This record gives sequence, C-alpha cells and structure tokens, in this order.
Amino acid sequence: MINLEGQVAIITGGAQGIGEGVCKVFCDAGATVALWDVRDSGAETAAKLKAEGGKIFFQKVDITNREAVDGAVNEIISAHSKIDILINNAGIVRDKSILKMTQEEWDAVINVNLSSLFTTTQAVLPYMREARYGRIISASSINGFAGAFGQTNYSASKAGVAGFTRALCREVGRYGITANAVAPGFIETEMTSGMPEEIIKAGIAMIPVARIGTAEDMGYAYLYLASKQAGFINGVTLHANGGAMPM
Ligand SMILES: NC(=O)c1ccc[n+]([C@@H]2O[C@H](COP(=O)([O-])OP(=O)(O)OC[C@H]3O[C@@H](n4cnc5c(N)ncnc54)[C@H](O)[C@@H]3O)[C@@H](O)[C@H]2O)c1
Repeated sequence: MINLEGQVAIITGGAQGIGEGVCKVFCDAGATVALWDVRDSGAETAAKLKAEGGKIFFQKVDITNREAVDGAVNEIISAHSKIDILINNAGIVRDKSILKMTQEEWDAVINVNLSSLFTTTQAVLPYMREARYGRIISASSINGFAGAFGQTNYSASKAGVAGFTRALCREVGRYGITANAVAPGFIETEMTSGMPEEIIKAGIAMIPVARIGTAEDMGYAYLYLASKQAGFINGVTLHANGGAMPM
C-alpha cells in the first residue's frame, strides 16, 4: 500500500499549519523530510516530529531567495543523493480591496505564492530528470477558483499555481515526473484562526461534510499525489474542500 519509504521530500512552509500536517503524514509514511521555512520555529516542529520517530530535518530557507533555495538543495543532494518529492506548500496572504492594496502587498503575495514555484522547481528538476522520477505538488486554493473579496493578489497567485501545474505537467511527464496541485478549502490553521467566530461558523455551514478541514486531511491529499501509485495523475488540481465547491 502507499508509503514513502526510501524517498526524500522537500516540504516548504512546514513550520506550522498545513505544512506541518504534511510533514507529519509524510514522516508517518516513512519519507525523509526536509522541512523548509523562513521561521525559526521550523526547528521545533522538526524536533517534535523527529521525537515521534520521523526522519526529518529543518533547513531555514526563504523560497523567494534563489541562492538560499539552491544552497539547501545542494545540501540535500550531498547528504541523500536525490530528491523525489517537492511540496510547494508555503504561502501568505496580504488581504485588501484592490484600491487599498499596495504594490508591496501585491508583489509579496505573487512572489511567495507563485514566483517561488519557478525557483524551487528549477532547483530540483535536474535531479528528478536524471533519476527519471519525481513528484511536484503545489498549493493552490479554493479562492483561486471562486475568488474572494480582498484577495485579488491571493486569488491570482493561486489560479496561477493551477496554470503553472498544467503547463509543467506537459514538460516533465516524459521523465517519469508528475506535477499536480492541491486546492485546500476552509482549513483550521493560523491563516484562518484569526477570523471572527461568525465567519468561521458561516464558512462551515457551506461545507457539505459539515466541518472545517484539518492539516492532516491536507497531508493525506498530498500523500496520494506524492505516491508512486499516482503515476498516471498529472496536471490536475485536487480540490480538497469537503464539497464546498464541487469541481
Ligand atoms: N488555511 C487554509 O484554509 C488554506 C486554504 C487554501 C489554501 N491554503 C494554502 O495552503 C498553504 C499553507 O497554508 P497555511 O494555512 O498552513 O498557512 P500558515 O500561514 O499557517 O503557514 C504557512 C507557512 O509558510 C511559511 N512561509 C511563508 N513565506 C515563506 C517563504 N518566503 N519561504 C519559506 N516559508 C515561508 C510561513 O512561515 C508558515 O510557516 C498556503 O499556500 C495557503 O495559501 C490554505
């Protein structure tokens, strides 16, 4: 059955939230995990998962910094000789209605959520191509498809992730590499916990499975796409939203 024994995975934004859930599920599945984050707390998350038996280590990486990305990839290759899986999970929000949004808020979201995929994918792809195997899975969002008030930057970036994935899948498939995306719906993390109670209740009321999603729910969605068994799934966006927006 599905496991990631013997496989090396990079998970960006793994310090907390969905990324932490993905790290946990991947550790449980036997992968060796490189947890990337700009936050130092990534070290604590990695230590916690290591204490639970995970093969995991922290690398402080800002995914918008090409030098940092290349340096971390080189370290992984020196230590483990390969990279099987890249999970482009890290993301940010800078919500404002469009006339109030600053250029910096627009640029920050596009850079972290979308342009970083160009950097991280370029860094790992030569190794995956040489190995004739790879899984690249990136974080889209329900709001990249539905749109959301105050999120022209975020929705554009997350729709961009789906388009990037559809184009990439055509380029890399012949090398045994697949490119897919996960579009989470309403998930309980720091990104959503600051919302007012009534907004959270109203959000849950829109979800047919009648609950908010968890980071581990997302971890299992990523796990399937990252598995060897998903080799014929290429270019899709898996909508993991409890049915909030059937697609
Ligand atoms: N929470 C939700 O409901 C939800 C819904 C749809 C999509 N998503 C997407 O899922 C992903 C994870 O969301 P989350 O809720 O866990 O967010 P989060 O804010 O809890 O965690 C994101 C992590 O990414 C890291 N990060 C941010 N910028 C970075 C950078 N430049 N380099 C490296 N790491 C960086 C942060 O430090 C943080 O640890 C994001 O891409 C988000 O857009 C989340």
